[in-house]
Amino acid sequence: MIITNSTEHMQELTAIVRKNKTIGFVPTMGALHQGHLSLVKLAMERCDFTVVSIFVNPKQFNNPEDFKNYPRTQEADTNLLSEVGVNLVFIPSEKEIYPAPDTRVFDFGETGNVMEGLHRPGHFNGVAQVVTRLFNIVNPTMAFFGEKDFQQLAIIKLLVDQIDLPIQIVSCPIVREYDGLAMSSRNRLLNNNQRMHVPLIARTLFEAKEKMEYVGVTDLSKWVKDTIDADPELKTEYAEIVNAKTLQPIITWDDANNIQLCVAVHANTIRLIDNIRLK
Ligand code: PAJ
Repeated sequence: MIITNSTEHMQELTAIVRKNKTIGFVPTMGALHQGHLSLVKLAMERCDFTVVSIFVNPKQFNNPEDFKNYPRTQEADTNLLSEVGVNLVFIPSEKEIYPAPDTRVFDFGETGNVMEGLHRPGHFNGVAQVVTRLFNIVNPTMAFFGEKDFQQLAIIKLLVDQIDLPIQIVSCPIVREYDGLAMSSRNRLLNNNQRMHVPLIARTLFEAKEKMEYVGVTDLSKWVKDTIDADPELKTEYAEIVNAKTLQPIITWDDANNIQLCVAVHANTIRLIDNIRLK
C-alpha cells in the first residue's frame, strides 16, 4: 500500500493507473470504523484499484470546537487500510488541498437548504469544495459514499451532475453497531453514560417505521422528537420526514414514492445524525 501526502505524487500515480484500470475512490475524514471499511470493500469489489483519502476538512466544519475535537487516529487508520488491501492512501495537509483560498460558491437549491444545510450553514459548500478538489486529484471511475450521510449523498450526486463529472457515485448502506447505533467517527467522543443512551436514536427510527402504518406524517415526526427528547441525555435538533429524492418535507404518505426519516441529535456537545427509509 502506498501512502502519500503530495498532490503531485497522487496525480502522477493515478494518471498511470487510469490508463488501464478502473479506480474506486473512498473519501474520508479518518477515525475509520466498519462503516468506512464497508465502502472500501465495495470499492475493491467493483474496481481494479482502490484509493482512500483521509483529510479532516476545516471548510466543512461550521463549529471550530467540533473541528478541534474531531478524532484523529492516523496510524490505526493506515493499519486498517493496509490489512484490507487498499492500494493507495492520500493523507494531504491543508496546504496541499487548499494551496490558495477556495472561494467557490456552490448552489444546491432546495436540497441544500434543509436539514444539515439549514442547521450547519456553509457545511455542504465546504464538502463540495473538498470533494471536487479530491475528485480532480484522484480522477476516479467510481466514488463511494455512505447513506449514513443521506443528504451529503444527494448533494454529491447533484454536484457531479452540475459540473458534468464522469464519475459514478455509488451509495452504500448504513453500518450499525450491535445495538443499532449508526457507526460514526464521533461515537468515539461519547462517554460511557452517553454511549448507553444513544442507541435510543436508532431504536426510535426502527419503531417509527413500524408505526407509520397507523400515524400521519406530522404526528410521526413529533413522536420521534418527543421520544428522543424524553431521554435527559439527548436533544433532537431536527426530525424530518422527507421525499428521499428531493429531501423536501412531505405532508402525507402519498406525497412521494420514497420517503426518508432523518434526525440530528445532540448528546451534550456531540452531534449525531441517522436516518431510515420509511417507504
Ligand atoms: P466521513 O464522516 O469520514 O465519512 C466518509 C464516508 O463514510 C462518507 O461517505 C460517509 O457517509 C461514510 N460513512 C460514515 N459512517 C458510515 C456508516 N455507519 N455506514 C456507512 N457509511 C458510513 O463524510 C465525510 O467523511 C466527509 O464529509 C467527506 C465526504 C470525506 C468530505 O470531507
